[in-house]
Amino acid sequence: MKSKIEETRWSRKAFDGYSIRNQLNPDSEFLHVGPSTPCGEYLRRFWHPVAMSSQLDSGTPVAIQILGEDLVIFRDLGGQVGLLHRHCAHRRASLEFGRIEERGIRCCYHGWHFDVDGTILETPGEPEDSKIRHEICQGAYPVHEFQGLVFAYMGPPEEMTEFPFLDSMAIPDHDLLPYSIHSPNNWLQETENAIDPFHSVFLHGRISGPQFPGLEHFTELPVVVYRSHAEGILYSHARRTGDLLRLRFHDYLLPNLAQNGGMFQVMDKPKIFGRTSLTKWVVPLNDTNSRKFGWRHFNDKDEVLRQGSRADVGWETVDFYGQTAHRTHDERQRNPGDWDVWTSQGPMNVHKREYLGSTDKGVVMLRARLRKDIRAVANGKSVTRITGTPKNPFRTYGGDTVLSLPPVENDNQYIEDVMNSVMDVYEASEKCSISERIDFIKYEISLKYPDAV
Ligand code: FES
Ligand SMILES: [Fe+2]
Repeated sequence: MKSKIEETRWSRKAFDGYSIRNQLNPDSEFLHVGPSTPCGEYLRRFWHPVAMSSQLDSGTPVAIQILGEDLVIFRDLGGQVGLLHRHCAHRRASLEFGRIEERGIRCCYHGWHFDVDGTILETPGEPEDSKIRHEICQGAYPVHEFQGLVFAYMGPPEEMTEFPFLDSMAIPDHDLLPYSIHSPNNWLQETENAIDPFHSVFLHGRISGPQFPGLEHFTELPVVVYRSHAEGILYSHARRTGDLLRLRFHDYLLPNLAQNGGMFQVMDKPKIFGRTSLTKWVVPLNDTNSRKFGWRHFNDKDEVLRQGSRADVGWETVDFYGQTAHRTHDERQRNPGDWDVWTSQGPMNVHKREYLGSTDKGVVMLRARLRKDIRAVANGKSVTRITGTPKNPFRTYGGDTVLSLPPVENDNQYIEDVMNSVMDVYEASEKCSISERIDFIKYEISLKYPDAV
Protein backbone atom coordinates (compact mmCIF):
# COMPACT_ATOMS: atom_id res chain seq x y z
CA MET A 1 0.00 0.00 0.00
CA LYS A 2 1.23 3.46 -0.83
CA SER A 3 2.10 5.73 2.09
CA LYS A 4 0.41 9.10 2.50
CA ILE A 5 3.65 10.74 1.39
CA GLU A 6 3.85 8.68 -1.81
CA GLU A 7 0.21 9.39 -2.68
CA THR A 8 0.62 13.12 -2.40
CA ARG A 9 4.12 13.63 -3.71
CA TRP A 10 3.12 14.12 -7.34
CA SER A 11 -0.28 15.65 -6.86
CA ARG A 12 -0.56 18.54 -9.31
CA LYS A 13 -0.90 21.45 -6.96
CA ALA A 14 0.98 24.73 -7.28
CA PHE A 15 2.71 26.12 -4.19
CA ASP A 16 2.46 22.79 -2.42
CA GLY A 17 6.00 22.13 -1.33
CA TYR A 18 4.56 21.25 2.06
CA SER A 19 3.09 17.97 0.79
CA ILE A 20 6.35 16.70 -0.60
CA ARG A 21 8.76 18.09 1.97
CA ASN A 22 9.27 14.84 3.84
CA GLN A 23 12.43 12.87 3.55
CA LEU A 24 12.15 9.54 1.78
CA ASN A 25 14.70 6.80 2.14
CA PRO A 26 17.21 6.05 -0.62
CA ASP A 27 17.02 2.69 -2.32
CA SER A 28 19.28 0.70 -0.04
CA GLU A 29 19.29 -2.29 -2.39
CA PHE A 30 21.58 -0.35 -4.75
CA LEU A 31 23.36 2.02 -2.48
CA HIS A 32 24.65 0.03 0.46
CA VAL A 33 27.89 -1.59 -0.61
CA GLY A 34 29.55 -2.79 2.59
CA PRO A 35 30.23 -6.45 3.44
CA SER A 36 27.13 -8.66 3.59
CA THR A 37 24.82 -6.09 1.97
CA PRO A 38 23.03 -7.39 -1.17
CA CYS A 39 24.63 -4.87 -3.52
CA GLY A 40 27.99 -5.15 -1.77
CA GLU A 41 28.01 -8.91 -2.24
CA TYR A 42 26.95 -8.57 -5.88
CA LEU A 43 29.73 -6.07 -6.61
CA ARG A 44 32.22 -8.40 -4.93
CA ARG A 45 31.69 -10.90 -7.77
CA PHE A 46 33.67 -8.62 -10.11
CA TRP A 47 37.21 -7.32 -10.50
CA HIS A 48 37.41 -3.58 -9.82
CA PRO A 49 40.21 -1.06 -10.14
CA VAL A 50 41.13 0.08 -6.63
CA ALA A 51 44.24 2.23 -7.08
CA MET A 52 46.52 3.85 -9.60
CA SER A 53 49.98 2.32 -9.82
CA SER A 54 51.42 5.80 -9.31
CA GLN A 55 49.92 5.84 -5.80
CA LEU A 56 52.35 3.08 -4.89
CA ASP A 57 55.48 4.99 -5.81
CA SER A 58 55.93 6.83 -2.52
CA GLY A 59 57.49 3.89 -0.69
CA THR A 60 54.85 4.16 2.05
CA PRO A 61 51.61 2.19 2.34
CA VAL A 62 48.43 3.90 1.15
CA ALA A 63 45.22 3.75 3.18
CA ILE A 64 42.20 3.30 0.92
CA GLN A 65 38.57 2.37 1.31
CA ILE A 66 36.80 0.16 -1.23
CA LEU A 67 33.25 -1.22 -0.90
CA GLY A 68 33.17 0.12 2.64
CA GLU A 69 36.26 -1.84 3.72
CA ASP A 70 39.30 -0.14 5.25
CA LEU A 71 42.33 -1.40 3.36
CA VAL A 72 45.98 -0.66 2.80
CA ILE A 73 47.76 -1.03 -0.52
CA PHE A 74 51.50 -1.01 -1.16
CA ARG A 75 54.22 -2.31 -3.45
CA ASP A 76 56.82 -4.31 -1.54
CA LEU A 77 60.51 -3.90 -2.29
CA GLY A 78 60.37 -7.07 -4.37
CA GLY A 79 57.78 -5.40 -6.63
CA GLN A 80 54.68 -7.33 -5.49
CA VAL A 81 51.50 -5.35 -4.79
CA GLY A 82 49.69 -6.14 -1.54
CA LEU A 83 46.09 -5.25 -0.73
CA LEU A 84 45.44 -6.05 2.93
CA HIS A 85 42.86 -5.25 5.55
CA ARG A 86 44.09 -2.03 7.05
CA HIS A 87 44.02 -3.07 10.70
CA CYS A 88 46.68 -5.49 11.86
CA ALA A 89 45.56 -8.98 12.84
CA HIS A 90 47.39 -8.60 16.17
CA ARG A 91 45.91 -5.56 17.92
CA ARG A 92 44.52 -3.59 15.02
CA ALA A 93 47.10 -0.88 14.53
CA SER A 94 46.84 0.54 11.03
CA LEU A 95 49.22 -0.94 8.49
CA GLU A 96 49.20 2.50 6.90
CA PHE A 97 52.03 3.11 9.39
CA GLY A 98 53.70 -0.18 8.58
CA ARG A 99 57.17 -0.60 7.10
CA ILE A 100 57.37 -1.98 3.59
CA GLU A 101 59.80 -4.92 3.42
CA GLU A 102 61.55 -6.83 0.64
CA ARG A 103 58.61 -9.20 0.94
CA GLY A 104 55.33 -7.78 2.27
CA ILE A 105 54.84 -5.31 5.08
CA ARG A 106 55.70 -5.16 8.80
CA CYS A 107 53.32 -3.66 11.36
CA CYS A 108 55.00 -0.80 13.23
CA TYR A 109 53.40 -1.65 16.59
CA HIS A 110 54.84 -5.09 17.48
CA GLY A 111 56.59 -6.02 14.27
CA TRP A 112 54.32 -8.71 12.85
CA HIS A 113 55.35 -9.28 9.26
CA PHE A 114 52.78 -10.05 6.56
CA ASP A 115 53.27 -11.29 3.01
CA VAL A 116 51.18 -9.76 0.19
CA ASP A 117 48.77 -12.71 0.40
CA GLY A 118 48.15 -12.05 4.10
CA THR A 119 50.16 -14.98 5.46
CA ILE A 120 52.19 -14.13 8.54
CA LEU A 121 55.92 -14.48 7.96
CA GLU A 122 57.05 -13.49 11.47
CA THR A 123 55.73 -12.61 14.91
CA PRO A 124 59.04 -11.44 16.36
CA GLY A 125 57.89 -10.78 19.95
CA GLU A 126 56.42 -14.26 20.31
CA PRO A 127 58.35 -17.35 21.46
CA GLU A 128 60.16 -19.38 18.77
CA ASP A 129 57.59 -22.17 18.95
CA SER A 130 54.55 -19.86 18.75
CA LYS A 131 51.83 -21.28 16.49
CA ILE A 132 50.16 -17.94 15.81
CA ARG A 133 51.59 -17.47 12.36
CA HIS A 134 50.31 -20.89 11.31
CA GLU A 135 46.85 -20.29 12.73
CA ILE A 136 45.72 -16.98 11.29
CA CYS A 137 46.23 -14.65 8.33
CA GLN A 138 45.82 -10.96 7.76
CA GLY A 139 42.85 -10.31 5.44
CA ALA A 140 44.14 -9.94 1.88
CA TYR A 141 42.77 -9.74 -1.66
CA PRO A 142 44.27 -10.81 -5.00
CA VAL A 143 45.32 -7.99 -7.31
CA HIS A 144 46.16 -7.60 -10.97
CA GLU A 145 48.10 -4.61 -12.23
CA PHE A 146 47.59 -3.42 -15.78
CA GLN A 147 48.39 -0.19 -17.62
CA GLY A 148 48.80 1.94 -14.53
CA LEU A 149 45.77 0.63 -12.64
CA VAL A 150 45.63 -1.96 -9.86
CA PHE A 151 42.54 -4.17 -9.95
CA ALA A 152 41.32 -6.33 -7.08
CA TYR A 153 38.92 -9.18 -6.56
CA MET A 154 37.23 -8.86 -3.15
CA GLY A 155 34.63 -11.62 -3.40
CA PRO A 156 34.43 -15.24 -2.28
CA PRO A 157 37.61 -17.03 -3.42
CA GLU A 158 35.65 -19.94 -4.88
CA GLU A 159 33.77 -17.50 -7.16
CA MET A 160 36.84 -15.71 -8.47
CA THR A 161 37.28 -15.45 -12.24
CA GLU A 162 40.43 -14.71 -14.15
CA PHE A 163 41.05 -11.01 -14.66
CA PRO A 164 38.79 -10.22 -17.65
CA PHE A 165 40.72 -8.86 -20.60
CA LEU A 166 38.89 -6.54 -23.00
CA ASP A 167 39.80 -5.99 -26.65
CA SER A 168 39.92 -2.26 -25.87
CA MET A 169 42.87 -2.89 -23.55
CA ALA A 170 45.00 -3.57 -26.61
CA ILE A 171 43.72 -1.57 -29.58
CA PRO A 172 46.60 -1.03 -32.02
CA ASP A 173 47.90 2.57 -31.84
CA HIS A 174 45.94 3.39 -28.67
CA ASP A 175 47.90 4.66 -25.67
CA LEU A 176 46.02 4.09 -22.43
CA LEU A 177 46.65 6.80 -19.85
CA PRO A 178 45.27 6.01 -16.39
CA TYR A 179 43.28 8.51 -14.36
CA SER A 180 41.13 8.63 -11.26
CA ILE A 181 38.60 11.13 -9.90
CA HIS A 182 36.68 11.15 -6.62
CA SER A 183 32.99 12.01 -6.31
CA PRO A 184 31.32 12.58 -2.94
CA ASN A 185 28.27 10.47 -3.76
CA ASN A 186 27.25 6.86 -4.17
CA TRP A 187 28.48 4.84 -7.15
CA LEU A 188 25.17 4.67 -9.01
CA GLN A 189 24.79 8.36 -9.83
CA GLU A 190 27.87 8.64 -12.01
CA THR A 191 27.24 5.13 -13.33
CA GLU A 192 23.78 6.19 -14.53
CA ASN A 193 25.21 9.25 -16.26
CA ALA A 194 26.97 6.86 -18.63
CA ILE A 195 23.72 5.28 -19.78
CA ASP A 196 21.81 8.50 -20.30
CA PRO A 197 22.50 9.90 -23.79
CA PHE A 198 19.87 12.60 -23.43
CA HIS A 199 21.78 14.57 -20.83
CA SER A 200 24.35 15.33 -23.56
CA VAL A 201 21.75 17.34 -25.48
CA PHE A 202 21.14 19.67 -22.57
CA LEU A 203 24.10 19.61 -20.19
CA HIS A 204 26.72 19.41 -22.94
CA GLY A 205 24.87 21.47 -25.53
CA ARG A 206 21.76 23.55 -25.20
CA ILE A 207 22.13 24.84 -21.64
CA SER A 208 25.63 26.33 -21.65
CA GLY A 209 26.71 25.81 -25.23
CA PRO A 210 28.69 22.88 -26.67
CA GLN A 211 31.29 21.62 -24.21
CA PHE A 212 33.18 19.04 -26.26
CA PRO A 213 35.08 19.89 -29.46
CA GLY A 214 33.86 17.79 -32.37
CA LEU A 215 30.57 16.98 -30.60
CA GLU A 216 28.73 20.23 -31.27
CA HIS A 217 25.89 18.22 -32.85
CA PHE A 218 25.00 16.91 -29.38
CA THR A 219 22.50 19.80 -29.21
CA GLU A 220 20.14 17.77 -31.43
CA LEU A 221 17.82 15.27 -29.77
CA PRO A 222 19.09 11.83 -30.77
CA VAL A 223 17.34 8.70 -31.93
CA VAL A 224 18.38 6.04 -29.44
CA VAL A 225 18.46 2.25 -29.54
CA TYR A 226 19.26 0.20 -26.45
CA ARG A 227 20.13 -3.46 -26.66
CA SER A 228 20.44 -5.66 -23.61
CA HIS A 229 22.93 -8.54 -23.75
CA ALA A 230 24.26 -11.03 -21.26
CA GLU A 231 27.06 -8.83 -19.94
CA GLY A 232 25.39 -5.43 -20.13
CA ILE A 233 23.65 -2.92 -22.35
CA LEU A 234 24.85 -1.64 -25.72
CA TYR A 235 23.23 1.54 -26.89
CA SER A 236 23.59 3.94 -29.73
CA HIS A 237 22.45 7.52 -30.12
CA ALA A 238 22.29 8.91 -33.62
CA ARG A 239 21.97 12.39 -35.06
CA ARG A 240 22.07 13.61 -38.59
CA THR A 241 23.65 16.60 -40.22
CA GLY A 242 22.23 16.66 -43.72
CA ASP A 243 23.10 13.35 -45.37
CA LEU A 244 25.59 12.38 -42.68
CA LEU A 245 24.33 10.08 -39.99
CA ARG A 246 26.50 9.87 -36.89
CA LEU A 247 26.00 6.76 -34.79
CA ARG A 248 27.65 6.89 -31.39
CA PHE A 249 27.91 3.55 -29.62
CA HIS A 250 28.26 3.22 -25.87
CA ASP A 251 29.09 -0.04 -24.30
CA TYR A 252 27.87 -0.50 -20.77
CA LEU A 253 29.18 -3.59 -19.03
CA LEU A 254 27.73 -4.64 -15.71
CA PRO A 255 28.10 -3.59 -13.06
CA ASN A 256 30.09 -0.38 -13.44
CA LEU A 257 32.18 -0.28 -16.62
CA ALA A 258 31.42 2.09 -19.49
CA GLN A 259 33.06 2.86 -22.81
CA ASN A 260 32.02 6.03 -24.60
CA GLY A 261 32.30 7.08 -28.18
CA GLY A 262 35.35 8.99 -29.36
CA MET A 263 36.62 12.41 -28.26
CA PHE A 264 38.18 15.29 -30.18
CA GLN A 265 37.11 13.90 -33.55
CA VAL A 266 35.84 15.45 -36.73
CA MET A 267 33.00 13.32 -37.96
CA ASP A 268 32.50 15.05 -41.28
CA LYS A 269 32.87 12.00 -43.52
CA PRO A 270 31.95 8.33 -43.40
CA LYS A 271 33.87 6.08 -41.09
CA ILE A 272 33.23 2.64 -39.74
CA PHE A 273 33.88 1.33 -36.25
CA GLY A 274 35.86 4.20 -34.76
CA ARG A 275 36.90 3.17 -31.27
CA THR A 276 36.35 4.54 -27.79
CA SER A 277 38.31 7.32 -26.12
CA LEU A 278 37.42 6.28 -22.59
CA THR A 279 37.28 3.08 -20.57
CA LYS A 280 36.05 3.83 -17.05
CA TRP A 281 34.81 2.11 -13.94
CA VAL A 282 32.91 3.82 -11.11
CA VAL A 283 34.00 2.07 -7.92
CA PRO A 284 32.20 2.56 -4.61
CA LEU A 285 34.52 3.60 -1.80
CA ASN A 286 31.58 3.41 0.59
CA ASP A 287 27.85 4.19 0.47
CA THR A 288 28.34 7.89 -0.20
CA ASN A 289 31.69 8.17 -1.97
CA SER A 290 32.90 6.75 -5.26
CA ARG A 291 36.01 6.94 -7.36
CA LYS A 292 36.25 6.67 -11.10
CA PHE A 293 39.25 4.77 -12.39
CA GLY A 294 39.87 4.54 -16.08
CA TRP A 295 41.99 5.14 -19.11
CA ARG A 296 41.90 7.94 -21.64
CA HIS A 297 42.66 6.31 -24.97
CA PHE A 298 44.97 8.52 -27.01
CA ASN A 299 45.27 7.79 -30.69
CA ASP A 300 46.22 9.86 -33.70
CA LYS A 301 43.84 8.15 -36.11
CA ASP A 302 40.54 9.17 -34.53
CA GLU A 303 41.47 12.17 -32.38
CA VAL A 304 42.31 14.31 -35.37
CA LEU A 305 41.59 17.59 -33.58
CA ARG A 306 44.65 16.93 -31.38
CA GLN A 307 42.99 18.74 -28.49
CA GLY A 308 43.57 16.00 -25.96
CA SER A 309 46.21 16.70 -23.34
CA ARG A 310 48.23 13.84 -21.91
CA ALA A 311 49.60 16.14 -19.21
CA ASP A 312 46.07 16.63 -17.87
CA VAL A 313 45.29 12.94 -17.38
CA GLY A 314 46.10 11.42 -14.00
CA TRP A 315 45.21 11.66 -10.33
CA GLU A 316 42.10 13.83 -9.95
CA THR A 317 42.38 15.14 -13.48
CA VAL A 318 41.31 14.33 -17.02
CA ASP A 319 41.55 16.38 -20.17
CA PHE A 320 37.94 17.15 -21.02
CA TYR A 321 35.33 19.49 -19.68
CA GLY A 322 33.59 19.41 -16.34
CA GLN A 323 34.84 16.15 -14.86
CA THR A 324 36.25 17.33 -11.51
CA ALA A 325 35.63 19.65 -8.58
CA HIS A 326 38.54 21.84 -9.58
CA ARG A 327 36.74 24.86 -10.93
CA THR A 328 35.35 27.80 -8.97
CA HIS A 329 31.80 27.47 -7.74
CA ASP A 330 30.86 30.38 -9.97
CA GLU A 331 32.28 28.67 -13.07
CA ARG A 332 30.53 25.45 -12.16
CA GLN A 333 27.21 27.26 -11.76
CA ARG A 334 27.53 29.17 -15.01
CA ASN A 335 28.67 26.22 -17.09
CA PRO A 336 28.07 23.02 -15.16
CA GLY A 337 29.65 19.75 -16.22
CA ASP A 338 29.07 16.05 -15.59
CA TRP A 339 30.80 16.05 -12.19
CA ASP A 340 28.62 18.93 -11.01
CA VAL A 341 25.35 17.22 -11.87
CA TRP A 342 25.96 13.77 -10.47
CA THR A 343 27.39 15.16 -7.24
CA SER A 344 24.50 17.67 -7.02
CA GLN A 345 22.03 14.79 -6.77
CA GLY A 346 23.31 14.42 -3.19
CA PRO A 347 25.31 11.74 -1.39
CA MET A 348 22.47 9.28 -2.07
CA ASN A 349 19.90 10.21 -4.67
CA VAL A 350 16.40 9.24 -3.51
CA HIS A 351 14.80 7.35 -6.39
CA LYS A 352 11.34 7.65 -4.89
CA ARG A 353 11.64 11.42 -5.30
CA GLU A 354 12.38 11.18 -9.05
CA TYR A 355 9.82 11.40 -11.80
CA LEU A 356 11.26 9.43 -14.70
CA GLY A 357 10.35 10.28 -18.29
CA SER A 358 10.89 8.83 -21.74
CA THR A 359 14.52 10.00 -21.80
CA ASP A 360 15.29 7.76 -18.82
CA LYS A 361 14.87 4.43 -20.58
CA GLY A 362 18.55 3.56 -20.15
CA VAL A 363 18.46 4.35 -16.44
CA VAL A 364 15.35 2.20 -16.02
CA MET A 365 16.96 -0.69 -17.93
CA LEU A 366 20.15 -0.44 -15.91
CA ARG A 367 18.38 -0.40 -12.56
CA ALA A 368 16.26 -3.39 -13.58
CA ARG A 369 19.35 -5.37 -14.66
CA LEU A 370 21.23 -4.48 -11.50
CA ARG A 371 18.30 -5.30 -9.25
CA LYS A 372 17.85 -8.68 -10.93
CA ASP A 373 21.52 -9.57 -10.52
CA ILE A 374 21.76 -8.23 -6.96
CA ARG A 375 18.82 -10.45 -6.04
CA ALA A 376 20.28 -13.41 -7.89
CA VAL A 377 23.47 -13.21 -5.84
CA ALA A 378 21.44 -12.72 -2.65
CA ASN A 379 19.62 -15.97 -3.53
CA GLY A 380 22.83 -17.89 -4.02
CA LYS A 381 22.75 -17.82 -7.81
CA SER A 382 25.57 -16.86 -10.13
CA VAL A 383 25.50 -13.90 -12.53
CA THR A 384 27.04 -13.41 -15.96
CA ARG A 385 30.49 -11.87 -15.85
CA ILE A 386 32.85 -10.74 -18.57
CA THR A 387 35.40 -13.30 -19.58
CA GLY A 388 38.35 -12.63 -21.83
CA THR A 389 42.06 -13.28 -22.11
CA PRO A 390 44.81 -11.41 -23.98
CA LYS A 391 44.62 -14.14 -26.66
CA ASN A 392 40.86 -14.09 -26.87
CA PRO A 393 39.66 -10.80 -25.38
CA PHE A 394 36.10 -9.79 -24.63
CA ARG A 395 34.78 -7.78 -27.60
CA THR A 396 33.60 -4.22 -26.88
CA TYR A 397 31.88 -1.66 -29.08
CA GLY A 398 32.30 1.86 -27.72
CA GLY A 399 32.99 4.25 -30.60
CA ASP A 400 31.50 5.91 -33.64
CA THR A 401 30.30 4.97 -37.08
CA VAL A 402 29.41 7.71 -39.56
CA LEU A 403 27.41 6.88 -42.69
CA SER A 404 26.36 8.96 -45.64
CA LEU A 405 22.66 8.16 -45.82
CA PRO A 406 20.21 10.84 -46.97
CA PRO A 407 17.04 11.36 -44.94
CA VAL A 408 13.92 9.44 -45.96
CA GLU A 409 10.28 9.63 -45.07
CA ASN A 410 9.82 8.36 -41.50
CA ASP A 411 13.44 9.21 -40.96
CA ASN A 412 13.57 8.45 -37.23
CA GLN A 413 12.34 4.91 -37.86
CA TYR A 414 14.90 4.58 -40.65
CA ILE A 415 17.69 5.77 -38.35
CA GLU A 416 16.61 3.26 -35.74
CA ASP A 417 16.68 0.51 -38.36
CA VAL A 418 20.18 1.56 -39.44
CA MET A 419 21.42 1.49 -35.86
CA ASN A 420 19.95 -1.96 -35.31
CA SER A 421 21.46 -3.24 -38.51
CA VAL A 422 24.91 -1.85 -37.60
CA MET A 423 24.57 -3.41 -34.15
CA ASP A 424 23.74 -6.73 -35.83
CA VAL A 425 26.98 -6.51 -37.79
CA TYR A 426 28.97 -5.58 -34.68
CA GLU A 427 27.55 -8.58 -32.86
CA ALA A 428 28.07 -10.92 -35.80
CA SER A 429 31.75 -9.91 -35.77
CA GLU A 430 32.19 -11.74 -32.45
CA LYS A 431 32.87 -14.92 -34.38
CA CYS A 432 35.91 -13.29 -36.05
CA SER A 433 39.38 -13.12 -34.66
CA ILE A 434 40.38 -9.71 -33.37
CA SER A 435 42.54 -9.06 -36.41
CA GLU A 436 39.76 -9.99 -38.88
CA ARG A 437 37.01 -8.22 -37.03
CA ILE A 438 37.38 -4.68 -38.35
CA ASP A 439 37.55 -5.90 -41.96
CA PHE A 440 34.47 -8.03 -41.40
CA ILE A 441 32.54 -5.05 -39.97
CA LYS A 442 33.62 -2.77 -42.81
CA TYR A 443 32.73 -5.36 -45.43
CA GLU A 444 29.32 -6.19 -43.98
CA ILE A 445 28.31 -2.55 -43.49
CA SER A 446 29.41 -1.62 -46.99
CA LEU A 447 27.36 -4.56 -48.32
CA LYS A 448 24.29 -3.26 -46.51
CA TYR A 449 24.87 0.39 -47.35
CA PRO A 450 27.08 0.49 -50.45
CA ASP A 451 26.64 4.23 -51.05
CA ALA A 452 27.09 5.21 -47.42
CA VAL A 453 30.75 4.54 -46.85
S1 FES B 1 49.18 -4.34 16.30
FE1 FES B 1 50.30 -5.00 14.61
S2 FES B 1 51.92 -6.17 15.44
FE2 FES B 1 50.74 -5.52 17.14
FE1 LIG C 1 28.14 13.74 -19.87
